[in-house]
Amino acid sequence: MSYDYLFKYIITGDAGVGKSCILQQFTDERFNPLYNSTIGAEFWAKTITINKKKIGLHVWDTAGQERFRALMQSYYRGAAGALLVYDITSRVSFGHISTWLEDLRKYAADNITIMLIGNKSDLDSKRTVSTEEGSEFAQKNGLIFVECSAKTAQNVEEAFVCTAVAIQ
Ligand code: GTP
Ligand code: MG
Repeated sequence: MSYDYLFKYIITGDAGVGKSCILQQFTDERFNPLYNSTIGAEFWAKTITINKKKIGLHVWDTAGQERFRALMQSYYRGAAGALLVYDITSRVSFGHISTWLEDLRKYAADNITIMLIGNKSDLDSKRTVSTEEGSEFAQKNGLIFVECSAKTAQNVEEAFVCTAVAIQ
């Protein structure tokens, strides 16, 4: 596959927040309601077009489970973009964002573009993290921010595209 630019992304955040589902929706336009926990890391690729330029995205989908955390640090190297995901129905996953951010600051490049994502926006009735809280956290920490749903596909493509635009 040919492209004008190649960007490496990593996607991190707690287990179960929907990282793999976001990627599956983005690459295959499918949603799996069953939970298949990622073991180690998985690789996905897709080409997007921005301003008539083809951008190859190579995305490393990392495991959120604590036992893999040390292993994940090697995937941070060379990443131009990071998608940092929490679940809007889980305050615990939102609380852990600062820990994931610490890892990014420690192991990724200084100029990495970080997109904070509040996933599962279709579950608004079960929401425990407000949009304002997510947005405020992003602003304070110099991140870009979006809420999306891997189930309905709302804002999924935007998350990847806005990150690429911010990298350029
Ligand atoms: P690990 O690989 O263990 O780190 O988890 P993960 O972050 O990759 O989570 P995964 O994508 O496997 O999704 C976990 C569960 O949440 C699955 O049962 C999904 O179907 C569900 N899920 C993911 N995204 C959404 C969403 O946008 N809406 C709803 N309603 N459910 C979702
Ligand atoms: Mg996964």
